[in-house]
Amino acid sequence: MEKKEQLYEGKAKKVFATEDPALCIVSYKDDATAFNGLKKGTIAGKGVVNNRMSNLLMRLLEQNGVPTHLVQELSERDTLVKKVQIVPLEVIVRNVSAGSFAKRYGVPEGIVFDEPTIEFSYKCDALDDPLLNTYHALALKLATKEEIATIERYAFRVNEVLKEYFLHLGVRLIDFKLEFGRLPDGTIVLADEISPDTCRFWDAETGEKLDKDRFRRDMGGVEDAYREIFKRVKGE
Ligand code: TMP
Ligand code: ASP
Repeated sequence: MEKKEQLYEGKAKKVFATEDPALCIVSYKDDATAFNGLKKGTIAGKGVVNNRMSNLLMRLLEQNGVPTHLVQELSERDTLVKKVQIVPLEVIVRNVSAGSFAKRYGVPEGIVFDEPTIEFSYKCDALDDPLLNTYHALALKLATKEEIATIERYAFRVNEVLKEYFLHLGVRLIDFKLEFGRLPDGTIVLADEISPDTCRFWDAETGEKLDKDRFRRDMGGVEDAYREIFKRVKGE
């Protein structure tokens, strides 16, 4: 399957049409942004890591009852996916306090929760992705009640599967962001990506950050962190 016209360019990926109207090709870039595009840079090799890692994780999730958009990895950076209408919600699951949670509630990072939390943001760059609850999402007609229930169920399932998976690789899954899409028949599937751009990974032994926080916080060692987490996922 070949790339036809470009349908969309996001901050980290481009999306191309294919000869099949039900499928598109996602192409992962090395571009990195943070704080809604205020901070810009590149992370050499990130596109390859995120493409391959996201595909590996989505395959694992498919095997564990979570349907995804994934069809086939085409190359280091390109993947064939089902064309979906993205539900404009960023779905964030947390196991440990970090990032905006720690800031918003004035707590230190690293507090382990008894139960995972879930929250939604309205995926809207112009508004800076504001936090919203399910009543707001319904009022704004971003999704139906049934869709939100399905999304919550899948998001917690993703957490169960990935938390366990990463622990075996010596990595703590702190939190992550998911996006879901609708197939033409209305089925909800996991879309977008699961990568060090969209998850927080802390080394279980040392606490070292193996994710995009190294870029967001100017910590250095960004490329090495992406390489390291990818190495573990590949089983090397
Ligand atoms: P937060 O603590 O900044 O809200 O981030 C929670 C998780 O969501 C973290 O793993 C990083 C991820 N994330 C994204 O994937 N995209 C975003 O735009 C933001 C703000 C966070
Ligand atoms: N991807 C987001 C952006 O630039 C932010 C982030 O991941 O921190 O908007």
